[in-house]
Formats: sequence, C-alpha cells, structure tokens
Amino acid sequence: MKITADELRTKYLTFFQSKGHTLISGASLIPENDPTVLFTTAGMHPLVPYLMGKQEHPAGTRLTDVQKCVRTGDIDEVGDSAHLTFFEMLGNWSLNDYFKKEAINWSYEFLTQQLGFSPDQLSVTVFKGEDGIPADEEAVEIWKGLGIPDERIYRLPREDNWWGPAGETGPCGPDTEMFIDTGKEKCGPDCRPGCHCGKYIEIWNDVFMQYNKNEEGKFVPLGRHNVDTGMGVERTICMMNGLDTVYDTDVFQPIMAKIKELSGKTEFVGDEVRSSRVVADHMRTSTFILGDQKGGVTPGNIGANYVLRRLIRSAVRHARKLGIAPGFTEKMACVIIDEYKHVYPELEQNRERVISELLQEESRFSKTLDEGKREFDKCISGIQRKNDFMASKDPAYVKDTTISGKQAFKLYDTYGYPLEMTVELAAEIGFTVDVDGYNEAFKKHQELSRANVGSAKSGLAEHSEETTALHTATHLLHAALKQVLGEHCNQKGSNITAERLRFDFTHGEKMTPEQIKAVEDLVNEQIKKDIKITREMMTIEEAKEAGATALFAAKYGEQVSVYTMGDFSKEVCTGPHLEHTGDMGVFKIKKEESSSAGVRRIKAVLQK
Ligand code: SER
Repeated sequence: MKITADELRTKYLTFFQSKGHTLISGASLIPENDPTVLFTTAGMHPLVPYLMGKQEHPAGTRLTDVQKCVRTGDIDEVGDSAHLTFFEMLGNWSLNDYFKKEAINWSYEFLTQQLGFSPDQLSVTVFKGEDGIPADEEAVEIWKGLGIPDERIYRLPREDNWWGPAGETGPCGPDTEMFIDTGKEKCGPDCRPGCHCGKYIEIWNDVFMQYNKNEEGKFVPLGRHNVDTGMGVERTICMMNGLDTVYDTDVFQPIMAKIKELSGKTEFVGDEVRSSRVVADHMRTSTFILGDQKGGVTPGNIGANYVLRRLIRSAVRHARKLGIAPGFTEKMACVIIDEYKHVYPELEQNRERVISELLQEESRFSKTLDEGKREFDKCISGIQRKNDFMASKDPAYVKDTTISGKQAFKLYDTYGYPLEMTVELAAEIGFTVDVDGYNEAFKKHQELSRANVGSAKSGLAEHSEETTALHTATHLLHAALKQVLGEHCNQKGSNITAERLRFDFTHGEKMTPEQIKAVEDLVNEQIKKDIKITREMMTIEEAKEAGATALFAAKYGEQVSVYTMGDFSKEVCTGPHLEHTGDMGVFKIKKEESSSAGVRRIKAVLQK
C-alpha cells in the first residue's frame, strides 16, 4: 500500500481511538525531571510517573500518541539505509489496563488489515527468559493463535527483547518486536530479525512493562501490567512503499531535493550519497531540537548542547563536501519547518530561534575550520622541522609522519577541528593520525562531560524526592520572577538534576542583587507557609481560563493536569510535585547569567 507519513499517523491514531484510547500530545524532546538522559528517546520518558502508578493520567488508562524522539547512540551509523538520529514514534499505552492479548491482537490487526502487510512478511521476536525471569510463552501462544508459524517466532535474550528502564531505574519488561522481511537474501546462516544486514526491518515493538529495575539493579515485579508500544513512522512508510531507504520516503523528499538544489547536483555518487543523508538527518534533528516547545538547548560544549553542536557541525562539514555554499542551514531549516509545522506547530513558533542559532553556529564553525586549518599547518611544520633537525644529525633517521592522538584531539577539542578532517588532510600530504590515541583522549573528555551533565548514574526513581522538590521549587521560582520582574518572564527551558534546578526565562537584562534577593525571599516565604499543592484535571481551555500558565502545546480539548500552590502559582504540568511546600528546605539562587539573547538562566538549590 502506498502511504504518506500524514496518512500513517492519522490511520494509527484513529485506529487506537476506535479501541478506546485517548489521543494525547507528544512531549517535548527535552526530558523533564530526568537527569539520566539528554533527550527524549522514547514515548515512555514523559509517562514514567504514570507507568510506575505514582499518579493517574488525566486522560485515562488507554492512551495513544505520536512522540518526537532523538537517539544519538548510533550517530555514526547515519548514512546507511535506516538509521536516523530523529524519528517519530507512534504509540499506544495501557496504564495497568489491557495486556499482552489485546496489545498483540491489535498490532496484528493494524499491520495486516489497516496497513495491508501480508502475514507472510511478518517475523516476530519474543523474550526467551533470563536471570530468573521466565520466557514469554504467553506472547508466543498469542502469535501462534494469530497464525504466525513457530519458525517465524524467534526467542531472543534480554539484549534483544527487553525494553527499559528509560534511565538507570524504573519500569521495564520483556517485549515482542515485529519485523518486515524485505525478501532480500539472508546474509548468512545466523541471519535473523535483529541482524543489521537489512533483510529484516523492525517497525514495531510491544513492551509488557511489569517489572521495575530497582537501585540495586534488580528486576522486581512492578505490581502493574502496562503496555508501551512504539511504531517507527519513517521505517514503516519505507517498508509500506517498498522503498530501499528511509531517505526515499515522502518525509525526506523535500529535504533531499533542497540538498540537491543547493549543491547543484542532480544525482549523488559515491561518498556524496552518505554526505547528503547526513546533512538531511542532522539538519532535521537540529531543527527539531532548536524548535522544541520547551527550548533551552543551544549549541555548546556539554551534554545536550554538545550533541546539538556536533549534529550541526557534522552537517556543515558534509555540506562543504557537497559543494554547498555557506548559509545553507537556514534554507534547510525552512524546508523542514514548512514540511512539519502542521504536525508540530512549535517549529513555526520558534522559527526565528531555530534560524538564528543555526546560522550563528554555522558561521562560528566556519571560523573554527579556518583557524583549525592554520593550527593543522603549524602542527605539520613542527613535525617537519623536527624531522629536518633529526635528519641533519643522523642521515638514517626515519622521518615521523604521524600526527599524535594528543595533537589530533587538541585540534578537535580546542579548535573544533574534526578528526575526519585531520585524517583527510593528513592523507593528502602522506601523513597518518594515531586514531587510537585520539579515541582514548576523546573518551576521557566524554567522561568528564557526562559528569558535568549531572549525576548520570543516579536514576529518576532513586532521586525522585530531590527532583520532585526541585520541580516544585521551579514553579515557585517561575511565579516569583513574574512578580518581581514582570509578567514577561516566561519559561524558556528547565533542567533538573538531583542537586539543582536550572531555569531559563525571557528577560532582557541582568538581575540586580536586590531582585535576586527579592525572588529568593518570595519563594522561601511560600515554603514557610507550607502551602498545600493541589492537582486538578481539566481541558487545556479550562486551564487557560483559570489563569494557569501553560507551557506545552496541548491539543484542543485535551485533558491536562493543573498544579496550584495557593494563590501563588498555577501551572499546567505533567508533574510529579510535592504535596506541601513545607519541607523543601531553603531556596537559594546560586547563579544568574545570560543564556542567549533576551534569555536569562538561573541555577538554584534547596538547602536542607
Ligand atoms: N519504548 C519502546 C521502544 O522505544 C516501545 O515504545 O521501542
């Protein structure tokens, strides 16, 4: 069946609504309350409190959504036929409602009757049992009951058939994954779903979340039976339209056409194919990160900012290879925003920010490349001088033609000069680079960066008390800023670790020490008053009517949670929050600085 991404989204969401699911908005790409991940990598992140049973979801126990996801673990694979750093995931959720039978039956019904896949094209995998957790024979029986023969049901270990938790601890469980057989030859006798040769493409995953990974790393029963499913939009339309790569699907057509136009080429050959795909993928991901409703991620050197910088710089580098002129990031972003804005209106709302950040980073990087090239030349002449000197002493001296790992890393770290470029330039003059040494230096650096992002090892659940209190403090801070500085102070970004909160907001100038003190006092006053925090569910329109600050894009009529702290603060939010402001400790602003033009950043803590 020929189908577009728009048609697939509509079909999916309509189908699951017909099975009693409520349509909810997808969440921001920037995770709230979870210091262990940089981006939303799956639909489950924003739903963790509900999956854990800590809270009731305002929209009920059966939900369906489309979630923007960023996964950069496979960033180096981008350029092949199926890996992407940004993708859309369609999901249906049971919050302790239906379980395996319904989930698998509906997956099968949707794949075969709605999308028209033949049951013969379908192979599935199930969890084979490990560490005292039994094999998922129930899933096997359900698939068999639907007519999938045993030889197309693969029993695989945890590595393949287990999902979650999203961070270090939290809800997780065995899954059953659905693959489309492309009909290609097996790459070898061991070829099976999960093999990367491209014969089997995974398009959907049903996770049965009935376990919790606790702080000791043990899997214990969660006491709830949730279902989390995820269908990849790009891969599914690729398979349905019988295409070879995700870059041939309708979502990438305008993007690829623009890359061709800008490079002045009608076809890409050889390495150009990969370069064009990297530009397409990375520009799409960067546009979505910068255009996110929550904002707060800008190109930088640490954590999520660093990932964004890397995506943009890699796109710039590959665009140069294709002969694309400077300024292209704006043109690419415009195509991407125009294509997606009807599904993700936040892209249009943040168009200006997207374009200005991209152009700034593109020009900073071009400068960097020029400076890096000068530094590279210096490094080479240093080696050559040493060679000449040694040769003058000892005619048998073997000339050094290696750029050390340390030098290559310095070029990268200090000058932003990518390893790949160092290797390429070195090769042109008969030099090599000690890549292992470079990788070692790089690894050390990354460990440091991760340590800076926050306590990467400690999960959301482990620190739920600290992060919940800081989250509540964030609402108080937001309201206090509006009182002290004015109503124009709107949230632009928020990030919470177990130790501190970070809050970005619109305000044109540096806060004075008096203003900082006034904000602290106001927040601490509310803490002292021990205000009861109430949570009500209402539609987004009712919430706005009630004067609640609403930061995320909700659909018309969508049920949302409104958290009220006395007369002081009222915000639409997914939570969780404390029940009282009383025992939060003392609120202290540690830092107030500029985040970007017109946006200030506060870092604050709760001292016990
Ligand atoms: N969380 C699962 C996945 O990402 C299913 O949604 O595959």
